[in-house]
Amino acid sequence: MHKLPVSDVDWKVIRNDFPILARRVHGHPLVYFDSAATSQKPRQVLEKVRHYYEYENANVHRGLHELSSRATEAYESSRQRVANYLGAASADEIVFTRGTTESINLVAQAWGEKFLREGSVILLTEMEHHSNLVPWQLLAERVSARLRFVPVRDDGTLALDQLSSLLTPEVKLFAFTHVSNSLGTINPVSELCQKARAVGAITLVDAAQSAGHMPIDVQELTCDFLAFSGHKMCGPTGIGVLYGRGEILDTIPPWHGGGEMITSVTLEKSAFKRAPHRFEAGTPNIAGAIGLAAAIDYLERIGRPAIFEHDVELARYAMQRLVELPGMRVLGPPTERGALVGFVMDAAHPHDLTTFADRYGLAMRGGHHCNQPLMRRFGLPGTTRASFYFYNTSEEIDRMVEILHAATRFFS
Ligand code: ALA
Repeated sequence: MHKLPVSDVDWKVIRNDFPILARRVHGHPLVYFDSAATSQKPRQVLEKVRHYYEYENANVHRGLHELSSRATEAYESSRQRVANYLGAASADEIVFTRGTTESINLVAQAWGEKFLREGSVILLTEMEHHSNLVPWQLLAERVSARLRFVPVRDDGTLALDQLSSLLTPEVKLFAFTHVSNSLGTINPVSELCQKARAVGAITLVDAAQSAGHMPIDVQELTCDFLAFSGHKMCGPTGIGVLYGRGEILDTIPPWHGGGEMITSVTLEKSAFKRAPHRFEAGTPNIAGAIGLAAAIDYLERIGRPAIFEHDVELARYAMQRLVELPGMRVLGPPTERGALVGFVMDAAHPHDLTTFADRYGLAMRGGHHCNQPLMRRFGLPGTTRASFYFYNTSEEIDRMVEILHAATRFFS
Protein backbone atom coordinates (compact mmCIF):
# COMPACT_ATOMS: atom_id res chain seq x y z
CA MET A 1 0.00 0.00 0.00
CA HIS A 2 1.18 3.47 -0.83
CA LYS A 3 0.81 6.57 1.33
CA LEU A 4 -0.05 9.85 -0.29
CA PRO A 5 2.36 12.53 0.95
CA VAL A 6 -0.01 15.37 0.27
CA SER A 7 -0.37 18.63 2.28
CA ASP A 8 -2.14 18.53 5.62
CA VAL A 9 -5.63 17.89 4.24
CA ASP A 10 -7.35 14.95 5.90
CA TRP A 11 -8.64 13.22 2.76
CA LYS A 12 -10.33 10.42 4.71
CA VAL A 13 -12.52 12.97 6.52
CA ILE A 14 -13.29 14.71 3.25
CA ARG A 15 -14.37 11.42 1.72
CA ASN A 16 -17.11 11.18 4.37
CA ASP A 17 -18.74 14.26 2.83
CA PHE A 18 -19.79 12.07 -0.11
CA PRO A 19 -22.66 9.80 0.95
CA ILE A 20 -22.62 7.80 -2.29
CA LEU A 21 -19.05 6.59 -1.68
CA ALA A 22 -20.29 4.45 1.21
CA ARG A 23 -22.48 2.42 -1.16
CA ARG A 24 -21.92 -1.15 -2.14
CA VAL A 25 -22.31 -2.16 -5.77
CA HIS A 26 -22.92 -5.81 -6.71
CA GLY A 27 -22.04 -6.68 -3.11
CA HIS A 28 -18.65 -4.89 -3.14
CA PRO A 29 -17.58 -1.48 -1.78
CA LEU A 30 -17.95 1.06 -4.58
CA VAL A 31 -14.70 2.23 -6.13
CA TYR A 32 -15.72 5.25 -8.18
CA PHE A 33 -13.14 5.89 -10.90
CA ASP A 34 -15.38 7.75 -13.35
CA SER A 35 -15.08 11.34 -12.14
CA ALA A 36 -13.95 12.59 -15.56
CA ALA A 37 -17.46 11.71 -16.76
CA THR A 38 -19.13 13.19 -13.70
CA SER A 39 -17.94 13.77 -10.16
CA GLN A 40 -19.78 12.79 -7.01
CA LYS A 41 -21.45 15.49 -4.90
CA PRO A 42 -20.70 16.37 -1.28
CA ARG A 43 -23.47 16.84 1.31
CA GLN A 44 -22.68 20.58 1.45
CA VAL A 45 -23.77 21.01 -2.19
CA LEU A 46 -26.80 18.74 -1.84
CA GLU A 47 -27.93 20.63 1.27
CA LYS A 48 -27.51 24.03 -0.36
CA VAL A 49 -29.68 23.06 -3.33
CA ARG A 50 -32.28 21.53 -1.03
CA HIS A 51 -32.28 24.64 1.18
CA TYR A 52 -32.82 26.85 -1.85
CA TYR A 53 -35.84 24.84 -2.98
CA GLU A 54 -37.26 24.63 0.56
CA TYR A 55 -36.85 28.27 1.58
CA GLU A 56 -36.04 30.58 -1.34
CA ASN A 57 -37.45 29.14 -4.54
CA ALA A 58 -38.91 31.76 -6.91
CA ASN A 59 -38.17 32.99 -10.40
CA VAL A 60 -35.41 35.54 -10.85
CA HIS A 61 -35.63 39.13 -12.12
CA ARG A 62 -39.32 39.29 -12.88
CA GLY A 63 -40.94 39.24 -9.45
CA LEU A 64 -41.21 42.23 -7.17
CA HIS A 65 -41.56 40.06 -4.10
CA GLU A 66 -39.30 38.89 -1.31
CA LEU A 67 -38.58 35.39 -2.56
CA SER A 68 -37.88 36.57 -6.09
CA SER A 69 -35.42 39.14 -4.74
CA ARG A 70 -33.71 36.44 -2.71
CA ALA A 71 -33.52 34.06 -5.65
CA THR A 72 -32.15 36.87 -7.85
CA GLU A 73 -29.58 37.78 -5.24
CA ALA A 74 -28.50 34.15 -4.83
CA TYR A 75 -28.28 33.63 -8.61
CA GLU A 76 -26.27 36.80 -9.23
CA SER A 77 -23.96 36.23 -6.28
CA SER A 78 -23.26 32.77 -7.72
CA ARG A 79 -22.15 34.51 -10.90
CA GLN A 80 -19.79 36.69 -8.86
CA ARG A 81 -18.53 33.58 -7.06
CA VAL A 82 -17.64 31.97 -10.40
CA ALA A 83 -15.94 35.18 -11.57
CA ASN A 84 -13.74 35.20 -8.45
CA TYR A 85 -12.97 31.50 -8.86
CA LEU A 86 -11.68 32.13 -12.39
CA GLY A 87 -9.96 35.44 -11.69
CA ALA A 88 -12.29 37.15 -14.20
CA ALA A 89 -12.32 40.94 -14.26
CA SER A 90 -16.08 41.11 -13.73
CA ALA A 91 -19.17 38.98 -13.11
CA ASP A 92 -20.44 40.31 -16.47
CA GLU A 93 -17.90 38.00 -18.12
CA ILE A 94 -19.67 34.91 -16.77
CA VAL A 95 -22.52 33.36 -18.78
CA PHE A 96 -24.41 30.48 -17.20
CA THR A 97 -25.05 27.63 -19.64
CA ARG A 98 -26.04 23.97 -19.38
CA GLY A 99 -22.42 22.87 -19.51
CA THR A 100 -19.22 22.82 -21.54
CA THR A 101 -20.96 21.62 -24.69
CA GLU A 102 -23.52 24.42 -24.64
CA SER A 103 -20.83 27.01 -23.86
CA ILE A 104 -18.82 25.96 -26.91
CA ASN A 105 -21.92 25.88 -29.10
CA LEU A 106 -22.74 29.42 -27.98
CA VAL A 107 -19.36 30.67 -29.19
CA ALA A 108 -19.51 28.61 -32.39
CA GLN A 109 -22.95 29.90 -33.28
CA ALA A 110 -23.12 33.45 -31.99
CA TRP A 111 -19.49 34.56 -32.27
CA GLY A 112 -18.53 32.25 -35.14
CA GLU A 113 -21.33 33.23 -37.50
CA LYS A 114 -20.64 36.92 -36.98
CA PHE A 115 -16.87 36.89 -37.25
CA LEU A 116 -15.88 33.96 -39.47
CA ARG A 117 -16.25 33.86 -43.21
CA GLU A 118 -15.20 31.83 -46.23
CA GLY A 119 -11.53 30.90 -45.94
CA SER A 120 -11.27 31.61 -42.18
CA VAL A 121 -9.37 28.87 -40.37
CA ILE A 122 -10.42 27.30 -37.07
CA LEU A 123 -7.44 25.65 -35.40
CA LEU A 124 -8.18 22.70 -33.10
CA THR A 125 -6.09 19.79 -31.86
CA GLU A 126 -6.33 16.08 -32.57
CA MET A 127 -7.12 15.43 -28.92
CA GLU A 128 -10.41 17.38 -28.71
CA HIS A 129 -13.45 15.52 -27.49
CA HIS A 130 -16.58 15.75 -29.59
CA SER A 131 -17.92 18.85 -27.75
CA ASN A 132 -14.94 20.84 -28.93
CA LEU A 133 -14.97 19.39 -32.42
CA VAL A 134 -18.50 18.90 -33.73
CA PRO A 135 -19.70 22.51 -33.07
CA TRP A 136 -16.73 23.76 -35.14
CA GLN A 137 -17.43 21.27 -37.92
CA LEU A 138 -21.02 22.54 -38.10
CA LEU A 139 -19.84 26.16 -38.08
CA ALA A 140 -17.19 25.51 -40.75
CA GLU A 141 -19.87 24.02 -42.98
CA ARG A 142 -22.22 26.99 -42.48
CA VAL A 143 -19.66 29.72 -43.18
CA SER A 144 -17.28 27.77 -45.46
CA ALA A 145 -14.42 28.03 -42.99
CA ARG A 146 -11.64 25.45 -42.81
CA LEU A 147 -10.54 23.27 -39.92
CA ARG A 148 -6.91 22.64 -39.09
CA PHE A 149 -5.46 20.43 -36.36
CA VAL A 150 -2.40 20.42 -34.15
CA PRO A 151 -1.23 16.77 -34.29
CA VAL A 152 -0.83 14.61 -31.20
CA ARG A 153 2.52 12.84 -30.78
CA ASP A 154 2.81 9.18 -29.81
CA ASP A 155 3.48 10.16 -26.20
CA GLY A 156 0.09 11.94 -26.04
CA THR A 157 1.44 15.49 -26.09
CA LEU A 158 0.74 18.13 -28.73
CA ALA A 159 3.26 18.58 -31.55
CA LEU A 160 4.04 22.12 -30.42
CA ASP A 161 6.96 22.34 -32.84
CA GLN A 162 4.34 22.54 -35.63
CA LEU A 163 2.42 25.38 -34.04
CA SER A 164 4.17 28.22 -35.82
CA SER A 165 3.40 26.75 -39.26
CA LEU A 166 -0.24 26.07 -38.27
CA LEU A 167 -0.91 29.45 -36.64
CA THR A 168 -1.07 31.55 -39.79
CA PRO A 169 -2.94 34.87 -40.04
CA GLU A 170 -6.03 33.11 -41.52
CA VAL A 171 -6.54 31.40 -38.13
CA LYS A 172 -9.37 33.30 -36.45
CA LEU A 173 -9.91 30.93 -33.57
CA PHE A 174 -7.78 28.43 -31.70
CA ALA A 175 -9.86 26.12 -29.49
CA PHE A 176 -8.18 23.45 -27.41
CA THR A 177 -8.58 21.40 -24.30
CA HIS A 178 -6.74 22.18 -21.07
CA VAL A 179 -6.60 18.53 -19.95
CA SER A 180 -7.30 15.67 -22.36
CA ASN A 181 -10.19 13.48 -21.17
CA SER A 182 -8.60 10.38 -22.74
CA LEU A 183 -4.85 10.90 -22.44
CA GLY A 184 -4.60 12.99 -19.27
CA THR A 185 -2.22 15.39 -21.07
CA ILE A 186 -2.09 18.86 -19.54
CA ASN A 187 -1.63 21.44 -22.29
CA PRO A 188 0.39 24.64 -21.79
CA VAL A 189 -2.61 26.98 -22.00
CA SER A 190 -0.83 30.24 -21.41
CA GLU A 191 1.81 29.55 -24.07
CA LEU A 192 -0.85 28.48 -26.60
CA CYS A 193 -2.95 31.60 -25.92
CA GLN A 194 0.01 33.91 -26.32
CA LYS A 195 1.05 32.32 -29.60
CA ALA A 196 -2.53 32.57 -30.90
CA ARG A 197 -2.80 36.20 -29.85
CA ALA A 198 0.40 37.00 -31.74
CA VAL A 199 -1.42 36.18 -35.01
CA GLY A 200 -4.65 37.86 -33.92
CA ALA A 201 -6.57 34.63 -33.22
CA ILE A 202 -9.20 34.37 -30.49
CA THR A 203 -8.71 31.49 -28.03
CA LEU A 204 -11.18 29.14 -26.40
CA VAL A 205 -10.08 26.80 -23.63
CA ASP A 206 -12.11 23.68 -22.90
CA ALA A 207 -11.64 23.43 -19.13
CA ALA A 208 -14.10 20.56 -18.57
CA GLN A 209 -11.39 18.34 -17.07
CA SER A 210 -9.44 21.07 -15.28
CA ALA A 211 -11.82 23.62 -13.73
CA GLY A 212 -12.41 21.54 -10.60
CA HIS A 213 -8.90 20.13 -10.40
CA MET A 214 -6.36 22.94 -10.51
CA PRO A 215 -6.02 26.69 -10.03
CA ILE A 216 -7.22 28.63 -13.08
CA ASP A 217 -6.84 32.36 -13.60
CA VAL A 218 -8.24 33.49 -16.93
CA GLN A 219 -6.31 36.75 -16.86
CA GLU A 220 -3.03 34.96 -16.28
CA LEU A 221 -3.85 32.40 -18.98
CA THR A 222 -4.88 35.29 -21.28
CA CYS A 223 -7.61 33.21 -22.92
CA ASP A 224 -10.60 34.89 -24.57
CA PHE A 225 -13.16 32.17 -23.79
CA LEU A 226 -13.14 29.32 -21.30
CA ALA A 227 -15.84 26.69 -20.89
CA PHE A 228 -16.61 24.18 -18.15
CA SER A 229 -19.35 22.10 -16.52
CA GLY A 230 -20.49 22.17 -12.90
CA HIS A 231 -21.15 18.45 -12.64
CA LYS A 232 -17.49 17.46 -13.08
CA MET A 233 -16.48 19.61 -10.09
CA CYS A 234 -18.89 18.55 -7.34
CA GLY A 235 -21.78 20.68 -8.65
CA PRO A 236 -25.14 19.65 -10.09
CA THR A 237 -25.73 18.52 -13.67
CA GLY A 238 -27.26 21.00 -16.12
CA ILE A 239 -25.20 24.01 -15.10
CA GLY A 240 -22.02 25.23 -16.72
CA VAL A 241 -20.12 28.36 -17.53
CA LEU A 242 -18.83 30.28 -20.47
CA TYR A 243 -16.24 32.85 -19.48
CA GLY A 244 -15.80 35.47 -22.21
CA ARG A 245 -13.44 38.45 -22.07
CA GLY A 246 -15.61 41.56 -21.67
CA GLU A 247 -14.71 43.41 -24.88
CA ILE A 248 -15.39 40.27 -26.93
CA LEU A 249 -18.56 39.11 -25.17
CA ASP A 250 -20.14 42.53 -25.73
CA THR A 251 -19.66 42.26 -29.50
CA ILE A 252 -21.55 38.96 -29.80
CA PRO A 253 -25.20 38.94 -30.84
CA PRO A 254 -27.76 36.86 -28.90
CA TRP A 255 -28.18 33.23 -29.85
CA HIS A 256 -31.31 31.98 -28.06
CA GLY A 257 -34.28 34.34 -28.02
CA GLY A 258 -36.90 34.58 -25.28
CA GLY A 259 -37.67 36.20 -21.95
CA GLU A 260 -34.99 37.65 -19.66
CA MET A 261 -32.56 38.54 -22.46
CA ILE A 262 -34.44 41.59 -23.84
CA THR A 263 -34.82 45.23 -22.86
CA SER A 264 -37.89 45.88 -25.05
CA VAL A 265 -40.01 43.94 -27.51
CA THR A 266 -42.50 45.02 -30.17
CA LEU A 267 -44.34 42.66 -32.45
CA GLU A 268 -41.71 43.24 -35.10
CA LYS A 269 -38.45 43.72 -33.27
CA SER A 270 -36.58 43.42 -29.97
CA ALA A 271 -33.71 45.16 -28.23
CA PHE A 272 -31.39 43.09 -26.10
CA LYS A 273 -29.68 43.31 -22.73
CA ARG A 274 -25.92 43.48 -22.48
CA ALA A 275 -23.77 40.43 -21.82
CA PRO A 276 -24.08 38.15 -19.95
CA HIS A 277 -27.89 38.39 -19.65
CA ARG A 278 -28.45 38.58 -23.39
CA PHE A 279 -27.17 34.99 -23.60
CA GLU A 280 -29.49 33.60 -20.92
CA ALA A 281 -32.95 33.36 -22.47
CA GLY A 282 -35.81 31.99 -20.38
CA THR A 283 -35.82 30.94 -16.74
CA PRO A 284 -32.23 30.00 -15.94
CA ASN A 285 -31.03 27.04 -13.90
CA ILE A 286 -31.18 28.99 -10.63
CA ALA A 287 -30.72 26.01 -8.33
CA GLY A 288 -27.89 24.78 -10.54
CA ALA A 289 -26.03 28.09 -10.28
CA ILE A 290 -26.48 28.10 -6.51
CA GLY A 291 -25.28 24.50 -6.35
CA LEU A 292 -22.25 25.37 -8.48
CA ALA A 293 -21.35 28.25 -6.15
CA ALA A 294 -21.65 25.85 -3.20
CA ALA A 295 -19.35 23.42 -5.03
CA ILE A 296 -16.84 26.22 -5.57
CA ASP A 297 -16.99 27.13 -1.87
CA TYR A 298 -16.40 23.49 -1.05
CA LEU A 299 -13.42 23.12 -3.42
CA GLU A 300 -11.88 26.36 -2.25
CA ARG A 301 -12.08 25.26 1.38
CA ILE A 302 -9.91 22.28 0.48
CA GLY A 303 -7.78 24.38 -1.86
CA ARG A 304 -7.13 23.76 -5.55
CA PRO A 305 -3.34 23.42 -5.14
CA ALA A 306 -3.90 20.58 -2.64
CA ILE A 307 -6.51 18.96 -4.92
CA PHE A 308 -4.11 19.13 -7.86
CA GLU A 309 -1.25 17.70 -5.81
CA HIS A 310 -3.48 14.80 -4.76
CA ASP A 311 -4.59 14.24 -8.40
CA VAL A 312 -1.02 14.13 -9.66
CA GLU A 313 -0.04 11.69 -6.96
CA LEU A 314 -2.98 9.35 -7.66
CA ALA A 315 -2.23 9.41 -11.41
CA ARG A 316 1.45 8.73 -10.76
CA TYR A 317 0.68 5.82 -8.45
CA ALA A 318 -1.89 4.38 -10.88
CA MET A 319 0.68 4.49 -13.71
CA GLN A 320 3.26 2.79 -11.51
CA ARG A 321 0.88 -0.01 -10.52
CA LEU A 322 -0.78 -0.54 -13.91
CA VAL A 323 2.45 -1.38 -15.71
CA GLU A 324 2.78 -4.43 -13.43
CA LEU A 325 -0.06 -6.02 -15.39
CA PRO A 326 0.72 -8.27 -18.37
CA GLY A 327 -0.12 -6.92 -21.84
CA MET A 328 -0.85 -3.46 -20.48
CA ARG A 329 -0.50 -0.29 -22.54
CA VAL A 330 -1.15 3.05 -20.83
CA LEU A 331 -1.84 6.04 -23.06
CA GLY A 332 -0.60 9.57 -22.58
CA PRO A 333 2.47 11.18 -21.08
CA PRO A 334 4.32 9.32 -18.31
CA THR A 335 4.47 12.41 -16.10
CA GLU A 336 2.79 15.84 -15.92
CA ARG A 337 -0.70 14.50 -16.29
CA GLY A 338 -4.17 15.07 -14.94
CA ALA A 339 -6.14 12.73 -12.72
CA LEU A 340 -6.94 10.01 -15.21
CA VAL A 341 -5.38 7.02 -16.92
CA GLY A 342 -6.58 5.48 -20.16
CA PHE A 343 -5.29 2.01 -20.94
CA VAL A 344 -5.73 -1.08 -23.08
CA MET A 345 -4.99 -4.66 -22.09
CA ASP A 346 -4.23 -7.49 -24.48
CA ALA A 347 -6.52 -9.73 -22.44
CA ALA A 348 -9.81 -8.01 -23.20
CA HIS A 349 -11.71 -5.36 -25.15
CA PRO A 350 -12.28 -2.18 -23.09
CA HIS A 351 -16.05 -2.82 -22.94
CA ASP A 352 -15.55 -6.34 -21.59
CA LEU A 353 -12.95 -5.19 -19.11
CA THR A 354 -15.13 -2.35 -17.84
CA THR A 355 -18.13 -4.66 -17.50
CA PHE A 356 -16.01 -7.24 -15.66
CA ALA A 357 -14.72 -4.54 -13.26
CA ASP A 358 -18.25 -3.36 -12.58
CA ARG A 359 -19.13 -6.81 -11.19
CA TYR A 360 -16.60 -6.03 -8.43
CA GLY A 361 -17.97 -2.55 -7.72
CA LEU A 362 -15.29 -0.75 -9.74
CA ALA A 363 -16.82 2.01 -11.90
CA MET A 364 -14.67 3.04 -14.87
CA ARG A 365 -15.50 4.19 -18.39
CA GLY A 366 -14.82 1.98 -21.39
CA GLY A 367 -15.04 3.02 -25.04
CA HIS A 368 -14.07 5.98 -27.18
CA HIS A 369 -14.79 8.64 -24.51
CA CYS A 370 -16.41 10.97 -27.09
CA ASN A 371 -12.98 11.01 -28.70
CA GLN A 372 -13.33 8.89 -31.83
CA PRO A 373 -10.70 10.69 -33.98
CA LEU A 374 -8.14 10.41 -31.17
CA MET A 375 -8.83 6.68 -30.77
CA ARG A 376 -8.35 6.31 -34.53
CA ARG A 377 -5.09 8.25 -34.26
CA PHE A 378 -3.82 5.59 -31.83
CA GLY A 379 -5.33 2.72 -33.82
CA LEU A 380 -7.61 1.69 -30.96
CA PRO A 381 -11.34 0.90 -30.79
CA GLY A 382 -11.34 2.52 -27.37
CA THR A 383 -9.72 2.38 -23.96
CA THR A 384 -10.64 1.69 -20.39
CA ARG A 385 -10.35 4.86 -18.37
CA ALA A 386 -9.89 5.21 -14.62
CA SER A 387 -10.39 8.81 -13.59
CA PHE A 388 -9.83 10.12 -10.09
CA TYR A 389 -10.78 12.95 -7.78
CA PHE A 390 -9.66 14.05 -4.35
CA TYR A 391 -12.05 11.60 -2.63
CA ASN A 392 -10.19 8.63 -4.12
CA THR A 393 -7.41 6.79 -2.32
CA SER A 394 -4.31 4.78 -3.18
CA GLU A 395 -6.01 1.75 -1.58
CA GLU A 396 -8.67 2.02 -4.27
CA ILE A 397 -5.95 1.94 -6.91
CA ASP A 398 -4.59 -1.23 -5.29
CA ARG A 399 -8.09 -2.68 -5.49
CA MET A 400 -8.33 -1.75 -9.19
CA VAL A 401 -5.04 -3.55 -9.90
CA GLU A 402 -6.31 -6.64 -8.03
CA ILE A 403 -9.49 -6.65 -10.13
CA LEU A 404 -7.52 -6.19 -13.35
CA HIS A 405 -5.32 -9.16 -12.41
CA ALA A 406 -8.49 -11.20 -11.92
CA ALA A 407 -9.71 -9.98 -15.34
CA THR A 408 -6.47 -11.09 -16.98
CA ARG A 409 -6.93 -14.58 -15.52
CA PHE A 410 -10.62 -14.68 -16.46
CA PHE A 411 -10.20 -13.58 -20.07
CA SER A 412 -7.17 -15.74 -20.81
N1 ALA B 1 -16.46 14.17 -21.70
C1 ALA B 1 -16.88 13.33 -20.62
C2 ALA B 1 -15.97 12.17 -20.41
O1 ALA B 1 -14.83 12.26 -20.76
C3 ALA B 1 -18.30 12.95 -20.73
O2 ALA B 1 -16.38 11.16 -19.89
